Amino acid sequence: MIVLMRIGFIGVGVINEAFARGVLAQYGAAAEVLLSPRNAARAAALAAKFPNVRVCASNQEVVDGSDWVMLAVLPRIAREVIGALRFRDGQRALSFISDFTLAELRSLAAPATLTRMVPLPFVAHRVGPLAVFPDDPEVTAVFGSLGQIVPAADEPTMDMFTAITALMSAYFAMLGDVVGWAEAKGFPPEAAAGYTASFFEALLYKAKTLTPDELAGHWREMTPGGLNELAVTYMRDTGAISAWSQALDKVWDRIRPAR
Ligand SMILES: NC(=O)c1ccc[n+]([C@@H]2O[C@H](COP(=O)([O-])OP(=O)(O)OC[C@H]3O[C@@H](n4cnc5c(N)ncnc54)[C@H](OP(=O)(O)O)[C@@H]3O)[C@@H](O)[C@H]2O)c1
Repeated sequence: MIVLMRIGFIGVGVINEAFARGVLAQYGAAAEVLLSPRNAARAAALAAKFPNVRVCASNQEVVDGSDWVMLAVLPRIAREVIGALRFRDGQRALSFISDFTLAELRSLAAPATLTRMVPLPFVAHRVGPLAVFPDDPEVTAVFGSLGQIVPAADEPTMDMFTAITALMSAYFAMLGDVVGWAEAKGFPPEAAAGYTASFFEALLYKAKTLTPDELAGHWREMTPGGLNELAVTYMRDTGAISAWSQALDKVWDRIRPAR
């Protein structure tokens, strides 16, 4: 098999492992995957599973051997880690790192051409939105099959997409609470979990058919005096609904502190 591209990963954590798995599922042996040495256990496990995955001795070795470099270290060390690397002219980089502007990231990775992307863990299964900024036909051509490319019109929009992804854990916590409630009532968790996932999947399917105006008001479509009215009234009265946008305000303040 001819190697079509060499893809390097700086930071082998949750999201870069998921992205590497998506790349390997899509390209198989046509991609050579280079991993930075940390986290050693996670990198070694990937290299043991896939013959075309190699753990490098240093972050610089990853950059030197790659056409595309995926950057996913924690924001607090990003400046130090990326700033220490030497990129090449004509090289491509994708940053998954939150809390940084495109300009900041581009100055750290110069002279490489850097694009911001927000993948999510299910990129490993090649599903879900891949927010990108700026829009770039080459990124779409190479990575568009790993999910649904969603170009952000401008950087505030990219930050808005980023903020919304911060609700992933809250959403799963909410699903866990629903299933936990059924379990506490003595029902088998398998039955409750399967039904809950199927139910919310159908709600999101419906949501995708609605215009923004319809979506904003769709919660009102319920039987007067019915069970949905009972539940949504309780949740609105207790602040459980507005807590979602309040959480987004907190995230927004961190992503765009002075902007
Ligand atoms: N998780 C998500 O769903 C998600 C989605 C989109 C974007 N992001 C963004 O992606 C970034 C990484 O998130 P994550 O969830 O993948 O975090 P993570 O699981 O903690 O991964 C970060 C990795 O960086 C490694 N690392 C630490 N110091 C390093 C160094 N000097 N050089 C190279 N690697 C180093 C860590 O290794 P050790 O374990 O050895 O310390 C760790 O494996 C964050 O900026 C986050 O906002 C995450």
